[in-house]
Amino acid sequence: MKLNLRIWRQPDTGTAGGFVTYEVDGVVPEMSFLEMLDVLNEDLIGRGEEPVAFEHDCREGICGSCGFLINGVPHGPRRHTTVCQLHMRFFEDGDSLTLEPWRAQAFPVVKDLVVDRSAFDRIIQSGGYITAPTGSAAEASAVRVPKEAADTAMDAATCIGCGACVAACPNAAAMLFTSAKVTHLNSLPQGQPERDQRTLDMVAAMVNEAFGSCTNHAECVAACPKGIPLEFIAGLNRDVMRAAFHRHREPLVILGAPRHPAHEDT
Ligand code: SF4
Ligand code: FES
Repeated sequence: MKLNLRIWRQPDTGTAGGFVTYEVDGVVPEMSFLEMLDVLNEDLIGRGEEPVAFEHDCREGICGSCGFLINGVPHGPRRHTTVCQLHMRFFEDGDSLTLEPWRAQAFPVVKDLVVDRSAFDRIIQSGGYITAPTGSAAEASAVRVPKEAADTAMDAATCIGCGACVAACPNAAAMLFTSAKVTHLNSLPQGQPERDQRTLDMVAAMVNEAFGSCTNHAECVAACPKGIPLEFIAGLNRDVMRAAFHRHREPLVILGAPRHPAHEDT
């Protein structure tokens, strides 16, 4: 197979980028999309040119480091498939493909197709933990986890932090990602002690980054390679309200939410 690639080239964050067109030959259907880029890069290196920078690690859909827009679609045309798991058998000989990095203010371009997703790390740092005694491992059944809670937490934990939800959203909102991380721990008995604080802290961290606001377009859900559902955003909103109305709560700093509890629980 032979492909025509139009790839965003940008040397660093502070320098303007632009599209450059390449032809890549010798692509076989068994290759992954990243292996196809490896072929291009080997050719570029052989010609003494700068290879295309793209991020990757596991190449099996679990680390979340790969990801860019293929013809304007995050991770390309296959639903629930990361770029590293996208195979060339889904493309035709002679296809023209445009590759560009996530477009979001919160994800500045580092180089070519690589963006800085450390805004996600700061959201997780703000509340992605539980209180647990250190020392030897606790007896496995010391805290019983209901099956429904375990299933919900497991579904939420499948979020790999790739950023496709932000790239797909017309507002570049990070609600799907944040809702997955909040839901993961808020669903479990072990996550209850910090539930309110976690919710407020992670939402506040999200608001403090350069993400937009959610307006329920649900493009994030369509783009998510892990099938994180829209219901998690609704659950996050419920948990924000729950935290807001609990007693002894500090005044909220989240835009659009009540600044003081309207009543106190008895
Ligand atoms: S919610 Fe989905 S699209 Fe967003 S970071 Fe997690 S896995 Fe990626
Ligand atoms: S390289 Fe790890 S998810 Fe694609």
